[in-house]
Amino acid sequence: MDFKNQVVDALSAVLKDELSADQIKGLIEVPKTSELGDFAFPTFMLAKTRHMAPIKIAAEIADQLDSSNFSKVVATGAYVNFFLAQTTFAQQVLADIAQQGADYGKQNLGSGNVPIDMSSPNIAKPMSMGHLRSTVIGNSIAKILTKVGYSPIKINHLGDWGTQFGKLIVAYKKWGSEEAVKADPITNLLHYYVRFHKEAETQPELDDEARAWFKKLEDGDPEAHELWSWFRGASLKEFKRIYDILGVKFDSFNGEAFYNDKMDKVIDELNDKHLLKESRGAEVVDLSKYDLNPALIRKSDGASLYMTRDLAAAIYRHDEYNFTQSLYVVGMEQTEHFKQLKAVLLEMGHDWANDIHHIPFGLITANGKKLSTRKGNVILLEKVLGEAVELAKTQIAEKHPDLQNADQVAEDVGVGAVVFHDLKSERVDNFDFNLEDVVRFEGETGPYVQYTNARANSILTKASAKADASVVLDDDSAWDVLKLLADFPATVARAAREYEPSVIAKYALRLAKGFNQYYAHTKILVEDAQLPARLALVQSVSTVLTESLNLLGVRAPKEM
Ligand code: ARG
Repeated sequence: MDFKNQVVDALSAVLKDELSADQIKGLIEVPKTSELGDFAFPTFMLAKTRHMAPIKIAAEIADQLDSSNFSKVVATGAYVNFFLAQTTFAQQVLADIAQQGADYGKQNLGSGNVPIDMSSPNIAKPMSMGHLRSTVIGNSIAKILTKVGYSPIKINHLGDWGTQFGKLIVAYKKWGSEEAVKADPITNLLHYYVRFHKEAETQPELDDEARAWFKKLEDGDPEAHELWSWFRGASLKEFKRIYDILGVKFDSFNGEAFYNDKMDKVIDELNDKHLLKESRGAEVVDLSKYDLNPALIRKSDGASLYMTRDLAAAIYRHDEYNFTQSLYVVGMEQTEHFKQLKAVLLEMGHDWANDIHHIPFGLITANGKKLSTRKGNVILLEKVLGEAVELAKTQIAEKHPDLQNADQVAEDVGVGAVVFHDLKSERVDNFDFNLEDVVRFEGETGPYVQYTNARANSILTKASAKADASVVLDDDSAWDVLKLLADFPATVARAAREYEPSVIAKYALRLAKGFNQYYAHTKILVEDAQLPARLALVQSVSTVLTESLNLLGVRAPKEM
């Protein structure tokens, strides 16, 4: 049941000649504290037409309105304040959650395939914190969109093609060793790559060699292809270790290389539509009418580019998945690139480009400093996750020394802490990373939410009765928790509309806090007639906290 709509209906009956239901809905506010009511309607905008003071209007509306669905309706200053009938509300919310379980909050806001371009690290380079952000944000958006009716397709658009592979092949053939690459592929491939750039400063002919090797690779030369495929496989194996730790799965690993044989068609189409222009030896699409720099499509040596591969990928995804929207979870620094991508597609006459959305995110700093890819963050990343798990282990040992599967729980908590921390601030915000803060059991952390959920579960295990949502809960101190529970579906909808996992993370923190306050004031396990109703509340809190964490890609241990 939508309680806000009850308020809208009651107001509409009185105001039908002045405001539409939608206008009324848009004006309704939620008061800061429950003492002021559950919904409030401001009357200022009626003052002009009615030639009356807002205070008088509020009093008049409160008087005329049918209040039988509410516990009371009162005018306070310029506002009409609505107090919901708490017991009816409680019964409805708890029955809904008991009945729907993990499906509570599921709704139909749309449908169809939604490819999500996410993670997308570069072969032979360490996975950066930026790629971690893309991975966990994309994963959570996929879960949220599933909950509201869409079918996401998680695509890892690996950076596995481009002139850098020519350089890598030259460097490997000159200075590399098979054993070194086998032992630690990413570190050593990165070494070769860095060395290549150094030596090329004094030996420019190296660049020509690299170009020649990339050309061979693009033309399918077996030796080039074999080396490339080896580097790719070895790097991917390293990345997959991290995906396993995070519990993230992909539907496709079609990276840039996958589009190698699909780019000629794009270039032909651009030519047919007379969109390619010559600029300093390269071929570009002019985008001045979009206020954008020209999009570089083909270099003077004929080699393809990041943009060309993205054009081929966008068209492929459209043809293959017939998407209703197509998302790219990529750092904010590539905003211009995605604007250009959409603009070129629109120039080609592909109106569906309007369904492409770049979902940008900000930078992570560590203790105030920008993180650098060059310093081997793949190790850093695994190290961070490993340290988080160790920290969780210590805390669990203190709080719950006889916990059964302590290692698994420590993993859930440590990894969950890092993921939750990433998702709790708004996507576009930059944030600083400090491990101690991230793994705290108190404060605005993932472990705090997980711990609250485990606490709710332990109450249920200890209880002598069974939860029963049909027993009417008449308990003032549960009111804030009940309203938060009722708010979950709307919260999921907002997170989906805004592609914003932080909406869910912040909600989970509010619910956990609300429940802990309730728990501090109320003796839940007292054996009285209300016990089954209070247990239904506890059960609902656990269901909704678990599902919130699940939408973030964070596990919710039953005990910790
Ligand atoms: N590999 C790129 C990078 O690390 C990200 C790719 C994003 N996806 C895309 N379709 N362009 O910067």
